[in-house]
Amino acid sequence: MLIDSHAHLQDPELLPDLEAVLARAQAAGVEGIICAGYDLTSSKLAVELAGRYASVWAAVGLHPENLASLEAETFAELARLAQHPRVVAWGEIGLDYVNGAPDRDRQKEAFRRQLVQARALNLPVIIHDREAHADTLAILKEAGPRPRAGVMHCFSGSAAFAQECLALGYYISFAGPVTFKNARRVREVAATIPVERLLCETDSPYLSPEPYRGQRNEPARVLEVAGRLAALFGETLPTFAPHLTANARRLFGLEAFPGDSLRRPGHTILEDLREGEEHAREVR
Ligand code: NI
Repeated sequence: MLIDSHAHLQDPELLPDLEAVLARAQAAGVEGIICAGYDLTSSKLAVELAGRYASVWAAVGLHPENLASLEAETFAELARLAQHPRVVAWGEIGLDYVNGAPDRDRQKEAFRRQLVQARALNLPVIIHDREAHADTLAILKEAGPRPRAGVMHCFSGSAAFAQECLALGYYISFAGPVTFKNARRVREVAATIPVERLLCETDSPYLSPEPYRGQRNEPARVLEVAGRLAALFGETLPTFAPHLTANARRLFGLEAFPGDSLRRPGHTILEDLREGEEHAREVR
């Protein structure tokens, strides 16, 4: 049994097909999925899904590419959402300099602010860092070390950077790229992470692992990622998966929750969305 420590089930690519996606995950042995928010709407949907499906937990937060609104009310609303008992992390948050990032100061402000909020709520954080390793590390150091501080999601840094994150209390998570043919460096770094700090994820619907590269990704494929990690440590998936699952349970505090994958009673999210649309039409 595995836990997909990072997926966007609320993404429009996955949501219309969610029942089938979750059924395939369950059939593949995925017992839990952390559904990460990236803006206010996606955070609300993550909480909604976590309330509906026993195998889903939520994270809320503003991704560095979704900083349209940095008003106090946005952060207050996220903090309210985070009170929900199925919210187990704050994220994804961080820095993304891939497209030149003319808004670096804004990104840093949102990142710092959310690190403080997460700490006040005693939630681990999910860190997004693309081509911003130095600034990410500087801000994480500023926030200081904390046990179970969070996870460096889809890690792309060096082994030395990983060691700095580990020292601050972060776990290190790998996604599809660890399976890519040209990703020897990512595998070399993954092999240096202590097993008790390693996580696996899909980042669905993005980053589909080999042999599905380029396709829409979904949580069932976390098996490909975990299998590749197992091989790096000279183990097989059945012997290695329990380590990865225990790590996710420890970081996100999932021990308090039942591990079954039964769907919660009530409507499906799609039924609710359809009702919402009908209601909107009536109002118009
Ligand atoms: Ni993501």
